[in-house]
Amino acid sequence: MLRTGLLGAGRIGHVHAKAITGHAASELTAVSDYVPEAAEKLAAEYGSTARTTDEILADPQIDAVLIATSTDTHSDLIEAATAAGKAVLCEKPVDLSLDRARACQAKVKESGRDVMLGFNRRFDPSFNALKQALDAGEIGKPEMLAVTSFDPALPPVEYIKVSGGLFRDMMIHDFDIANFLMGEPPVTISAVGSSLVDPAIGAEGDVDTAAVTLSYADGRIAVIRNSRRAAYGYDQRIELLGSKGMLQAENMVENTVVKSNADGVTAAKPMHFFLERYMPAYRIEWDAFVTAVTNGTPFPATLADGVTALAMAEAATRSRASGAPVALSDV
Ligand SMILES: NC(=O)c1ccc[n+]([C@@H]2O[C@H](COP(=O)([O-])OP(=O)(O)OC[C@H]3O[C@@H](n4cnc5c(N)ncnc54)[C@H](O)[C@@H]3O)[C@@H](O)[C@H]2O)c1
Repeated sequence: MLRTGLLGAGRIGHVHAKAITGHAASELTAVSDYVPEAAEKLAAEYGSTARTTDEILADPQIDAVLIATSTDTHSDLIEAATAAGKAVLCEKPVDLSLDRARACQAKVKESGRDVMLGFNRRFDPSFNALKQALDAGEIGKPEMLAVTSFDPALPPVEYIKVSGGLFRDMMIHDFDIANFLMGEPPVTISAVGSSLVDPAIGAEGDVDTAAVTLSYADGRIAVIRNSRRAAYGYDQRIELLGSKGMLQAENMVENTVVKSNADGVTAAKPMHFFLERYMPAYRIEWDAFVTAVTNGTPFPATLADGVTALAMAEAATRSRASGAPVALSDV
C-alpha cells in the first residue's frame, strides 16, 4: 500500500484525491494546503487527515507525495520531497522559470532519484492508442502533426496571474504530446499569440489564443493551436500524418446520440473540461506512478520531459515577443 501525502487541495488536488483513493494499492494518508481549511475539507471528503506540508515530508510513514500546488512552488517542493526520500509525482509545469527547473533537475539527479511529471495526456486512452498504433508502424514515419487544444472557459484570473502564461501553463501539455509522438524535441519554434478572449489577460502580458509551429531537424513539422475559449466545450484533438497513412484522435463527447431531422444533423458537445475529459487519464497516470514506484521501474513521464517542455514554452514565449523563430538550443 503506497501511503501518499497530497500537497495542494485546489482544482487538480481534488482530481488526484479521487484517483489515489480509488486505487487498490494506494491510500490518501494526509492532505496539506497553504489554506488549512481547504486541506481539511478535502481530507474530510476522503476520510483522510489534514497536516502541514512539513509534517507530511517529515513523516517516515508516508512513502509518496503528489505535488498539486501552484506552479511557483513545484521546484522547491520537488527538492524537499526527494531529499526526504519520498517518491514524487508533480503536476506540470516543473516551474515558472526554466533556470530554476534546470537547477531542480540537477539537484534531483544528484539524489539518484527521478520524479514523475503529471503529463496526464500521455495516459489518455485515445491518445495512448494513437501512440501505440504509431509505434506499431501502422502509419510509417510521422511527418506532420496537428494538435488542437481549446478550453471551454477561462480559469480564474488569480490562477492566470500565477500560471506563467499560456505557453508554460496550457500549451506545455501539447509540447509534451508533440515530443511523445514525434519522438524528439524540435529544433526551432515559431509562435504567434493574441488576447482575444479577455483584455485583462493581454494587460497581464499574456495571450489566450496562440498558434505555434515546431520544426524538426529532418524537416518534419508540428502545429499546435490553443485557445482559452471554445463555445462548444473542451476541444482536444490530434491528427498525425505519416508516410503510410494518418492517425486521428477525435473529441470525447457527452453522449453518442445523433439527432437527424428536417433542421439538420446534430450531435452532443465534447465533454465539458479537463475534469470530465481526462478523469480516466488521471487514474491511469496514478496507476502508472504506483506501478513504477512499487516495481522500481522508470517513470513513463519524467522530470527531464518536464524541463524539455518548459524550454519549448520559453522558446515560444520569446518567439511571440520577437516575431522571429527561436532555436531550442538558444534557450
Ligand atoms: N495536469 C492537468 O491537467 C492540470 C490541470 C489543472 C492544473 N494543473 C496544475 O496543477 C497545479 C495546481 O493547479 P490548480 O488548478 O489545482 O490550482 P488551484 O489554485 O486550484 O490550487 C492550488 C492549491 O495549492 C495551494 N498551495 C499553494 N502553495 C502551496 C504550498 N506551498 N503548500 C501547500 N499548498 C499550497 C493553494 O492554496 C491552492 O489551494 C498547477 O501547477 C497547474 O499547472 C494541472
